[in-house]
Amino acid sequence: SYNGLALTPPMGWNSWNKLRCGVDEEDVRGIADAIVAKGLDELGYRHVTVDDCWMANSRDAHGDLTADPERFPSGMKALGDYLHARGLKFGLYGSPTQGTCQKRPGSYGHERQDARRFADWGVDYLKYDWCQTSPEESPDMWADFPGHTQKQLARVLFPRMAKALQETGRPIVYSLSACCEDLGFPEWGRSTANLWRTSTDISDTWESMLANFEAAAAFPEAAGPGGWNDPDMLEIGNGGMTDTEYRSHLSLWAMLAAPLIAGNDLRTMSEETRRILTNRRVLAVDQDERGEQAAVVTRENGRWVLSRRLADGSRAVALFNATGKERRLATTAEAAGLPGSRHGYRVRDLWSGRASHTAGELSATVPAHGTVLLRVARR
Ligand code: DGJ
Repeated sequence: SYNGLALTPPMGWNSWNKLRCGVDEEDVRGIADAIVAKGLDELGYRHVTVDDCWMANSRDAHGDLTADPERFPSGMKALGDYLHARGLKFGLYGSPTQGTCQKRPGSYGHERQDARRFADWGVDYLKYDWCQTSPEESPDMWADFPGHTQKQLARVLFPRMAKALQETGRPIVYSLSACCEDLGFPEWGRSTANLWRTSTDISDTWESMLANFEAAAAFPEAAGPGGWNDPDMLEIGNGGMTDTEYRSHLSLWAMLAAPLIAGNDLRTMSEETRRILTNRRVLAVDQDERGEQAAVVTRENGRWVLSRRLADGSRAVALFNATGKERRLATTAEAAGLPGSRHGYRVRDLWSGRASHTAGELSATVPAHGTVLLRVARR
């Protein structure tokens, strides 16, 4: 990994999916309290990140970024202290151009100053986004790099912040974001950052979740300890999908070794949402120390079989039914990559918890949009 961090995919919460530009310091403190009260921190959900709109509209007299005075009146240092006092990590958001997606100040030309400021505030995680890229929005940037493509520019500016962060001496997990431009992150992200987006923004719909899953599934070789494909933050609990679909959402992200950044209101979530987000067996697949992303074993008319090799030699196998009807899905231990076994295999269904044995066949009747997630080991 480029900085020794994120040896397993980062976990936490981010303000964007649910709260957008309405997020304020009371929300963030409340989320932090809920994380601790509900034991989510002990399961790994530790990075609490304020996404776009935490900043005031312009820099202060010293050219420093400052907190939005209305929504973060206590300032960002105080917020970081609040999180750290509860054993949590503090995440913030910025942009390499001259503006963020929501038109707050960008870090172009201020990279070292901003990195130092983040470090002073106790920032442990930076999400660095890609917007405001037109010559009108970022004139100084284009004046310095005439004739560059966005991709070429990204290959200069994302590493520039990586270096500035490292120069602070503070360990800071670094997350690359780009909603609307293919910057080729999976090809070069690992040398620069700990996670990188592989698609457009997720929304709280089945179609969007499926599209973002598919996009990240195309780059299995890019992922590994220290650097991860990011199919975007979770929508679990936001209300636009069924609980069956949300279980698929977590199952698929776990198979992808994706960052698990909750995007719902953890203060008021339902018991079923809490149960989904806190399934230890599924989280253990995501956080497996081998850090190998699942391979697609078969994919036929919306019936997916995925297999992920785990550190103990077992395999996580997902039988994912993306069709609109209940289906029978089947594979074998051998097709899933397990070595042959005269004594068969032990199988654990990670959602129901049920244990069973098989000579080799792995099959289940899977509801529409559902996933049966198995952990399979040689006996
Ligand atoms: C685009 C990113 O992809 C989103 O995740 C979010 O950070 C917004 N920008 C904020 O403006």
